[in-house]
Amino acid sequence: MAALIDKLEHAPARLICGRHDNRPDVLLEILHEVQATEGWLSDDALHTIADALNISRAEIHGVVSFYNDYKREAPAKHCIKLCHAEACQAVGSGALAAHAKNKWNVSTGGKSADNKIELEAVYCLGNCALGPSAMIDGELIGRVTSERLDALIERCIEESECE
Ligand code: FES
Repeated sequence: MAALIDKLEHAPARLICGRHDNRPDVLLEILHEVQATEGWLSDDALHTIADALNISRAEIHGVVSFYNDYKREAPAKHCIKLCHAEACQAVGSGALAAHAKNKWNVSTGGKSADNKIELEAVYCLGNCALGPSAMIDGELIGRVTSERLDALIERCIEESECE
């Protein structure tokens, strides 16, 4: 039984809950902080949060599944967010997503087979005048062309191979 408890314990989640005095009313903040720290919300993390806050796992799963921002799978090494809001769509973001799928076999909302890159749709990065816009590992990039997207993806793949 102790081994099962040890396996499910998630130390970073326990620490974050403690910093919030294990208060169930700040569940959203705790979930955001755990995801910001770990990159996603694992089953172990959710189990630990439920235990620390003394709430049911069903309650946590309800909250996590309600918000699209929470990730339930480990992220790829590099995240490419491509803006699909109106201004960027008007200047070709849809064609960029299609290019990424054709050339790199990565669909929007999916990951490459080698888990090096993932492609995510976002809706406005606040860079509308310089669209199509993308954000790669937190770096905002404007006027993205298919050639530029290829170069950025190649850079991500090269960096992954050096890590
Ligand atoms: S619409 Fe794409 S950055 Fe605003």
